[in-house]
Amino acid sequence: MVGSCQQNASAEMRFRKTLASRCGIGFCASPMHNPLAQPVVEITDLHKSYGPLEVLKGVSLTARQGEVVALIGSSGSGKSTLLRCINMLEVPERGSVRVAGEEIALTGKPPHRKPADEHQIRRIRSELGMVFQSFNLWSHMSVLENVMEAPLRVQKREKAAVHAEALEMLAKVGIRDKAESHPSQLSGGQQQRAAIARALCINPKVMLFDEPTSALDPELEVEVLRVIKLLADEGRTMILVTHDMQFARTIADRVIFLHQGRIEEEGTVAEVFGATRSARLKQFLSAAGHV
Ligand SMILES: Nc1ncnc2c1ncn2[C@@H]1O[C@H](COP(=O)(O)OP(=O)(O)OP(=O)(O)O)[C@@H](O)[C@H]1O
Ligand SMILES: [Mg+2]
Repeated sequence: MVGSCQQNASAEMRFRKTLASRCGIGFCASPMHNPLAQPVVEITDLHKSYGPLEVLKGVSLTARQGEVVALIGSSGSGKSTLLRCINMLEVPERGSVRVAGEEIALTGKPPHRKPADEHQIRRIRSELGMVFQSFNLWSHMSVLENVMEAPLRVQKREKAAVHAEALEMLAKVGIRDKAESHPSQLSGGQQQRAAIARALCINPKVMLFDEPTSALDPELEVEVLRVIKLLADEGRTMILVTHDMQFARTIADRVIFLHQGRIEEEGTVAEVFGATRSARLKQFLSAAGHV
């Protein structure tokens, strides 16, 4: 049994290597994730409805320090809602969210439940680097100003240090030369990389990605996937919603399959893709061309 698991794992590693080079994102055998690392995000029994539509029906998940968690599932299964509940862009009716050990305080009864402490929400949001499908850059500011805005205005950090760090982050994502450009002068892939640099510049405890490449053409997509892979190899904690099964398989430590607001299956890449148990997940992967 142990032997067959090890064989599965090494076959998976070979597969990931081939896949990564096929995706053009390079391969670095990330160290095995430590299952005892500190939890950075802990979600417990989350319930969220929009009117009569119950979208999340008791979801619990933990992302530990340095772990890359991929959230997969059909359209409408609740993936974005779950991510938005982490930073309280959506307020769950039941359940709790802890970030770096601190529980977000909520008050009131549904449907009037809301954050109890706006200062806490602002502080916790400034520890979460959120990257959406649409880049949400400020069009009237240069790329550099976009990246510097939150560290200066929200985190009240010192300008010279923020300036240096912002340029470093832009270099990391490969668009240092676009610092003085405005977002409209950038390609979609460059805009998304600027959005990633902006999220990185707040020194987030965790990066939350919601389909960061779905608005991009395939050739621009690769630029962004490469940057995300680089961050994963650096050991950043990430929760990533993606429709790209090849990418999830290449990058994730753990994969969570959400189905109709519940976690239907979760496990390592080898378990979820290589020894799929749930019939619904099999169907989903087969529709995505993966079985
Ligand atoms: N603000 C809202 N008001 C009403 N219904 C909403 C709202 N946001 C999401 N929904 C509904 O909640 C369900 C889950 O939406 P969600 O965006 O979380 O799905 P998803 O898994 O991210 O889908 P996709 O893969 O298409 O992005 C959908 O049926 C959606 O129509
Ligand atoms: Mg979504």
